[in-house]
Amino acid sequence: MRQNLVAGNWKMNLTYQEGLALVEEIVRLNAAGTGPEVVVCPPFPFLAGVGEKLPQGGKLHLGAQNCHQKESGAFTGEVAAKMLASVGCEYVILGHSERRQYFGETDELLSQKLKAALAAGLKPIFCVGESLDTREADETFDFIGQQLAAGLFHLSNEEFAQVTVAYEPIWAIGTGRTATSAQAQEVHAFIREQIARAYDAQAALDTTILYGGSANAQNARELFSQPDVDGGLIGGASLKAADFTTIIQSF
Ligand code: 13P
Repeated sequence: MRQNLVAGNWKMNLTYQEGLALVEEIVRLNAAGTGPEVVVCPPFPFLAGVGEKLPQGGKLHLGAQNCHQKESGAFTGEVAAKMLASVGCEYVILGHSERRQYFGETDELLSQKLKAALAAGLKPIFCVGESLDTREADETFDFIGQQLAAGLFHLSNEEFAQVTVAYEPIWAIGTGRTATSAQAQEVHAFIREQIARAYDAQAALDTTILYGGSANAQNARELFSQPDVDGGLIGGASLKAADFTTIIQSF
């Protein structure tokens, strides 16, 4: 069965000390341990330290924002999936639009990264989402369908069962312009339908699909009330423990 999940993508923000203070506050505010699964995704140098603050075996998990496609080797400045697993990461975000846009990550590269992450035992959070131009040209479904087919649907059923999908319309990321709950629901239902076609109806029902893009403490409840929205991938609002906690408690 799919589970509700809220992931905080800290992106390239905060110092180590600020990151530790933030996670301590998140742990304190969520000590009850009820509610959805929660993933915090700090920058690489914070991972081990932030992970040590998370109670073992609870609902708070550690995730990374990216990984390299190769297992190891002469790739100066890069980080391998098994390194992430070795510092306690359970999840890794792959295919974020910022990686696709600013670092030239293609569907082909992402399919390799997915394999590398899965081989290291990580659960990928795989992002898809259209630009404003694509939406205005009425090509959103074609575009998302293509991203899923080229980047994700090469996985076996067993591999795919480890994946969380995140729908993040580029025009909503960091802009304060959230998708309406109806816009999110429509794309989420489409994604679930594509999963059913590529795998089967049960796989579609079991897949957690997150919404991301200016989700915040005010709009999370409305977004999460949609039948195919299983949680959120949160950027800016995940940097404030109180707001992030409100979002976590919005189911
Ligand atoms: P914002 O919540 O800041 O719009 O960012 C969303 C996002 O890109 C999460 O990965």
